[in-house]
Amino acid sequence: MRTTLRDTPPLRDTPVPRTRGLDSTLALVRDGYDFISDRCRRYGSEVFETRLLFERTLCLVGAEAAKVFYDPDRFERAGAAPARLPKTLFGQGGVQGLDDAAHRSRKRMFMSIMTPESIRDLVDIFEQEWQAALDRWKRVQSIVLYEEVSWVLCRAVCRWAGVPLAAYDVRRRTADLQALIAAPAAVGPAYWRGRRARRDCERWLAEIVRQVRRGELTAPVGGVLHTFAEHREPDGHTFAEHREPDRQLLPDRVAAVELLNILRPVVAVDRFITFAALALHLHPRCREQLSDGSDPEVARRFTQEVRRFYPFFPAVVARVRTDFDWNGVRFPQGRRVLLGLYGTDHDPRLWSDPDQFRPERFVDRPEDPWTLIPQGGGDHHVNHRCPGEWITIELIQSAVTLLASGMSYDVPDQDLRVSLRQMPTLPNSRLVLANVSQR
Ligand code: HEM
Repeated sequence: MRTTLRDTPPLRDTPVPRTRGLDSTLALVRDGYDFISDRCRRYGSEVFETRLLFERTLCLVGAEAAKVFYDPDRFERAGAAPARLPKTLFGQGGVQGLDDAAHRSRKRMFMSIMTPESIRDLVDIFEQEWQAALDRWKRVQSIVLYEEVSWVLCRAVCRWAGVPLAAYDVRRRTADLQALIAAPAAVGPAYWRGRRARRDCERWLAEIVRQVRRGELTAPVGGVLHTFAEHREPDGHTFAEHREPDRQLLPDRVAAVELLNILRPVVAVDRFITFAALALHLHPRCREQLSDGSDPEVARRFTQEVRRFYPFFPAVVARVRTDFDWNGVRFPQGRRVLLGLYGTDHDPRLWSDPDQFRPERFVDRPEDPWTLIPQGGGDHHVNHRCPGEWITIELIQSAVTLLASGMSYDVPDQDLRVSLRQMPTLPNSRLVLANVSQR
């Protein structure tokens, strides 16, 4: 019988368990989202050591591990991610790779646009774009929901951020933003497609930043584009034409990287919305509870369970800042460490029947920064936890309400399996809906 994390206490005062073999990168590709938690179960430990891309790496899972991982005195991010991440997903010079004061200053820029009013504006725009798309969906026999939602989100986030986007450009830009997300775990053409998409997107957005700075493009004060174009950092990089004694604008390219850190992940909510539609289909009782759209609490619980249950990012990466011991294991300075997000969201010590989709588990469950961590853990302002978490929740919740109470549709026979090997993953059919109509 398979042991679970719950019935195997963590090892103490013992050497760290190690995977066998020279390198586990192929095993990671083979086991996908389960790579970390499967081995933790096997070794009866919250931590084990392996080699990934030939580098010694400690892997962790669970709430206690998350608390340690998010301690900025113990871990840093600069240079922690394998090179293919900044070359595709993150970009170079962005908030993900900063530490200490530089991180806090840049993070403030992101947090300043995450006000309830600003998030409400984005959701309103999203709902308008969804409505416009629905008018078209009604006139065709079937749609692929994932594709349609990604275009809706791309239009919505560009309008919200103040980034001009011509109608004829929506599909191309959406495909580029999606390519950035698919690239880090890809080999061959999909990886190179991501590299090209990064170059093209940064050029596109750097030119928009330059236009704002030259006064050729109006960006409303307080909006995303204006905030990012005008953000100044005490020890930021030099931008020759806009020097102030000790506060400098971000270089155009870094401002573009950060704008992409808004556009790309908002479009990525298409995956969670597709999973939400899948869950509505697979759990008719939930759908029924949501069908009159009157109880936001039911929609909130459903949304939280979608974010917990369905896989998105498997793990986050950091490097040990100074030597320390945890759980009887030495963490030497410079060692790369992975915290399993999916594993923690499915940790049986934290979630009963973690592989069951059960929104009721969130009834009266207090919020906790270390257990539900699909978008990272800890404090949004201090740690690297995702600043877009509230946006993500609000967008999924809005889509769930639109799907369950605003429209009717059929889900024809299709391949709805979700592979845990493909990272990031989706239902194989990307969710085909037929005979869509408005309710
Ligand atoms: C699709 C849903 C999303 C998922 C699954 C997701 C997941 C994550 C994860 C795992 C992290 C890293 C946490 C860490 O390093 O400890 C992160 C960071 C980040 N996310 Fe998200 N995110 C999503 C949506 C968003 C949205 C909507 C935005 C912006 C509007 C956003 C902007 C960012 C930024 C800027 C960071 C870097 C924060 C930092 O380094 O301090 N994300 N996200």
